[in-house]
Amino acid sequence: MRRILLGVGGGIAAYKACELTRLLVKAGDAVQVVMTEAATRFVAPLTFQALSGREVALDLWRPQATGGMDHIDLARAADAFVVAPATADLLARAAQGRGDDLLANLLLARGALPTLLAPAMNRAMWANAAVQRNVALLRGDGVRIAGPGSGEQACGEVGDGRLLEPEQLLAELDALLAPQVLRGRRVLLTAGPTWEPWDEVRYLGNRSSGKMGWALARAAWERGAEVVMVAGPSALEPPHGARVVAVQTARQMRDAVLAELQRAAVDLFVAAAAVADWRPAQVVAGKLKKRAGEAAPALALELNPDILAEVAARADAPYCVGFAAEADDLHAQAQAKRLRKGVPLLVGNIGAQAFGSDDNVCVLVDADGVRALPRAPKLQLARQIIDEAATRLPERRP
Ligand code: C5P
Repeated sequence: MRRILLGVGGGIAAYKACELTRLLVKAGDAVQVVMTEAATRFVAPLTFQALSGREVALDLWRPQATGGMDHIDLARAADAFVVAPATADLLARAAQGRGDDLLANLLLARGALPTLLAPAMNRAMWANAAVQRNVALLRGDGVRIAGPGSGEQACGEVGDGRLLEPEQLLAELDALLAPQVLRGRRVLLTAGPTWEPWDEVRYLGNRSSGKMGWALARAAWERGAEVVMVAGPSALEPPHGARVVAVQTARQMRDAVLAELQRAAVDLFVAAAAVADWRPAQVVAGKLKKRAGEAAPALALELNPDILAEVAARADAPYCVGFAAEADDLHAQAQAKRLRKGVPLLVGNIGAQAFGSDDNVCVLVDADGVRALPRAPKLQLARQIIDEAATRLPERRP
C-alpha cells in the first residue's frame, strides 16, 4: 500500500482531484488530502474526506496530529507527494520556499519525498514568464512537473494549462515512483490487431484488444523511456506519454516500424501486435454484393511480412522481444518460436485466454530457459516484462 499525500490547490480543476482520490483509493493507496483555503472555495473538504476515508488537513494552526506537527508529520508519513491542481500561486510559493499555509509548509518539509506537481491555470497565466521561471526552478529542485495538458479551458479559451486527466495523473504518479531504468532509451512497440481489407467495408482481423501493448508502452514510459507505439485499430485511449503511430494493415505497420528505426536508433523493440498472418490477395473495389443464386465468393490469401523477424535480422537490430499466442504446449512452442524468429526474449501466453482480458498468465523464454509469470493484471505483467528486458539491454550506443 502506498501512502499518498495529495495537495489540492485553489483552481476550478480541483474537481478532478476528487476523481484522482477515488482512483488512488481503488488502486489500494492510502490518501491524505491537504487543501489550501482557496481550494475549499471550489470543493468542500467533506467530499475529499468521504472519498479518502480520512479527515482532510486544512489548517496550519489547528493540526490533527498529536504534538501539533502536521506541517512536518504529514510529509514524513508519505511515500509520495502529489499536488493537483498546482495553481500559479502555489507554484510561486513552492519555488520560493514560502511557508504561509499548511500545504506550502509541507512542500518545504518534503525532504527527499518524491514530489509531483500538476499545474493548472489559464493559458496566458501558464505562458507568463514568471510561471515558467518558477516551473524551471522547481524542476531544478528535483520536482516532477506533470503536464499541463492542452485544450478547452474553463475560461472559454483554448490552449496549454489544463490539468491532466485523473488517469493521466495516476500514470504520472506511477512514473514518479518507478525505477528509471530506461531513462535515455528509445523503445519502439507494435500493438493491437491489424485489419486486412477485403473490400471497402470488410476486413480480416482478430480479437486483439491492444491492452497488452498499451500496458507495455505505459510500463516503458514509466521507466523513463521515449516510447513510440505503432498501433493497429483499438478502442483504447492512447497511452499517456507515448507517441502513437496509427496504422491498419500489417504492411502499414511494417513501413511505420522501419521508418521509426530509420529516424533514430532504437534500444528496445517489443512486438506485441497480433499481426494478421495473411491478407486477402485482392482488395475488391467498392462492396462485394451478395446476389441471389450466386455462390459465395472465393477468398484467396497471401502472406504478410513478418515484422519481428525482419527487425531481428537487421545488422542494426535493437534488443527484440516477441510474443507468442499459442493454443497448447506453451513452453515448447514458445521456445521454438523464439529460435524461429531469432529473438533473445519471447513472451508466451495462451491466445484464447489473453485476447481482450484485463489479466493474463505468461512465460518468459530466453536462451537460459523459461520463467513463469503468474496470473496478474496486464499492467503488472508488462512492468515485469519491461524490467526483464531492461536488465538485458546492451550498453547505450554512442
Ligand atoms: O508467428 P507468430 O504470429 O506466432 O509470431 C508472433 C510474434 O511475431 C509477435 O511478437 C508478433 O507481434 C510478431 N509478428 C510480426 N509480424 C507478423 C506476424 C507476427 O511482427 N507478420
